[in-house]
Amino acid sequence: MDDKKILLTGDRPTGRLHLGHYVGSLRNRVELQKREDIDKFFIMIADTQALTDNYGNPAKVKDNIIQVALDDLACGISKDKACIFIQSQVPELFELTCYFLDLVTVSRLERNPTVKNEIQQKGFEESIPAGFLTYPVSQASDILAFDTDIVPVGEDQAPMIEQTNEIARRFNYLYGDTFKEVKMLLPENRSACRLPGTDGKSKMSKSLNNCIYISDDENTVNQKVKTMFTDPLHLRVEDPGHTDNNPVFIYLDALVKDEDFKMYYSKFANFNQLKEAYEKGGVGDVEIKQFLAKVINNTLSPIRERRKEFEKDISSIYRMLEENSKRASFEASKKVKQVRRHLSVDYFTDYKFIEKQQKAFNKEHRDEENLKAYLAKKK
Ligand code: TRP
Repeated sequence: MDDKKILLTGDRPTGRLHLGHYVGSLRNRVELQKREDIDKFFIMIADTQALTDNYGNPAKVKDNIIQVALDDLACGISKDKACIFIQSQVPELFELTCYFLDLVTVSRLERNPTVKNEIQQKGFEESIPAGFLTYPVSQASDILAFDTDIVPVGEDQAPMIEQTNEIARRFNYLYGDTFKEVKMLLPENRSACRLPGTDGKSKMSKSLNNCIYISDDENTVNQKVKTMFTDPLHLRVEDPGHTDNNPVFIYLDALVKDEDFKMYYSKFANFNQLKEAYEKGGVGDVEIKQFLAKVINNTLSPIRERRKEFEKDISSIYRMLEENSKRASFEASKKVKQVRRHLSVDYFTDYKFIEKQQKAFNKEHRDEENLKAYLAKKK
């Protein structure tokens, strides 16, 4: 039995990637690519999906393809271990989406909690673009086209994985075994699953303007951390502080290592000690923010350096994306062939069927000849 796994994940190219992407996914990707039991690792730049709510501004999507590719590479994704490709350049994905759309009802699409949320956020309630409502189906194609086993993503993608598996099951039920069910892989650290924004809002998101970007420089990080939301009830240093829903603590939980305490904050040995002290009272917000800024900058500093190197040769990154997209298209075409067979749209390769039809036509012709001969004799 072949235990090697196929992994696929993706990002919408609507901006540079941020700390939420980093702790929720990118950091994991870098670890995953080292694993021996990985057969293929696809990282998709989801431009088609980005267009479902950015169709009014395609230039923005185009601009950000390179930003996302640079962020992946800067974080340490290896060109040899992972295939970073562009969704729109793999036509097989569009074809699968079309077939899958027949297997999903509009009411099911309207129940997808992530999409529902986004529709509200974007004020689409009155007129939802059909492409937006159906993007989970397109995402199912992204995943199923490559025989994916594992999808490493953040928590907000759970409804997409669920819908993907529903589509896989329905297809298999109607047409025979074709697709594997996939598993999603969440980050182990709970805080990393859904990083809030610097303003304390539930999600770090470009559209909410509450992000720390992976490529932010040291000063920008310092500034952003300084103005971060903390515990609104923690007015004086001596007051007991709350660490739940406190983004400074959530970021620390997601990022900090014991070494960081040794290096920058030796008053405490580890995160739990700091947390206890803050909850008791006596630890100031300014102090923990300064610590957090150091931790973030320490994490991002080698990433910034690598990014600068990659930025020197942009055309080679486009060449890599082109080659990888071709490879992805080749991989997906294997699955699409099977799907075409199951859906009886394999007209030009089903030779047996053509032969059978020919025989049936021949028989009809013969019958007619016989009839003519019979009638001729009767006269
Ligand atoms: N929906 C994902 C996001 O918003 C991006 C994405 C598109 C994706 N296709 C995918 C993620 C396939 C994992 C697998 O971040």
